[in-house]
Amino acid sequence: MNLEELTALYDFTDCTVLVTGGAGVLGSEIACALVGCNANVVILDRDQELAQRVIEQFPKVVKGRSARVFGDVLNVDSLLQANETIKAEFGAVDILINAAGGNHPSATTSPERTFFDLPVEALRQVGDLNLLGTMLPCQTFGRGMSERGAGVILNVSSMNAFRPLTRIPAYSAAKAAINNFTQWLAVHMAQNYSPHIRVNAIAPGFFLTEQNRFLLTDKDTGALTMRGQSILAHTPMNRFGTPEDLLGATMWLISPASAFVTGAVIPIDGGFSAFSGV
Ligand SMILES: NC(=O)c1ccc[n+]([C@@H]2O[C@H](COP(=O)([O-])OP(=O)(O)OC[C@H]3O[C@@H](n4cnc5c(N)ncnc54)[C@H](OP(=O)(O)O)[C@@H]3O)[C@@H](O)[C@H]2O)c1
Repeated sequence: MNLEELTALYDFTDCTVLVTGGAGVLGSEIACALVGCNANVVILDRDQELAQRVIEQFPKVVKGRSARVFGDVLNVDSLLQANETIKAEFGAVDILINAAGGNHPSATTSPERTFFDLPVEALRQVGDLNLLGTMLPCQTFGRGMSERGAGVILNVSSMNAFRPLTRIPAYSAAKAAINNFTQWLAVHMAQNYSPHIRVNAIAPGFFLTEQNRFLLTDKDTGALTMRGQSILAHTPMNRFGTPEDLLGATMWLISPASAFVTGAVIPIDGGFSAFSGV
């Protein structure tokens, strides 16, 4: 292999990539990088105004086209409708990135709200968003991949999946389920449909974003909470991740550079999962 051949693996010309939660902090960074690598990029999200603002930030001089489409990852009808819209404008979805997900304060324990008092609706909402919110898009957009015998799915797991973090039981359990489902679907697709359908996941460590800012920083001073300090103390690289930190592993897993990789969950965590704490 030479540099030209290596670079060609990361040229996504004529490839249509769908990013669920693509208007969010991490999804939008990935979507933007894909635009820069010539992909046709479709952002599926509930907030269409935000999705439009994200698209307006994309690089301008590129080969691919970008679009946004309304979709709720927990509503099958909206996903089927989105699929029809995408098919009409772009043809098939070649690559699906499931970035919609996250925790919610109401499903988080605190001195005021013990585990025993967490409301069932909050537990269900976080569990559903992170597990079903990945499974349902895999059904909707994976069906086309099974018919064509080709495709790539990338799920977004978390450090919580390997060992649960304190305070966020539903989120931890749902992300652990994502790791399991990623392996399950990888085997299912390869054995029943095609070895050219690959399913992998990234497991980001700690990125300071809107969904965890309330846990990691003090809302008045912006100083690190005890939890924020503890995370950095357990991260050998001694920093939080930035959204760009996800790009190398993401591009590798969705490109032919990883043609023999399926069912893998790749930590992107500054060494957090490797560190015993001593
Ligand atoms: N941030 C971290 O440190 C971290 C670490 C590990 C893993 N992750 C995972 O990385 C992924 C992206 O996280 P992020 O930090 O980028 O979160 P984010 O900024 O909240 O982005 C998530 C996006 O998904 C959308 N979304 C939520 N529910 C949806 C639904 N039912 N249908 C369609 N879209 C929906 C959100 O829209 P709304 O604004 O309308 O809710 C938002 O635009 C998540 O799976 C998260 O669990 C994040």
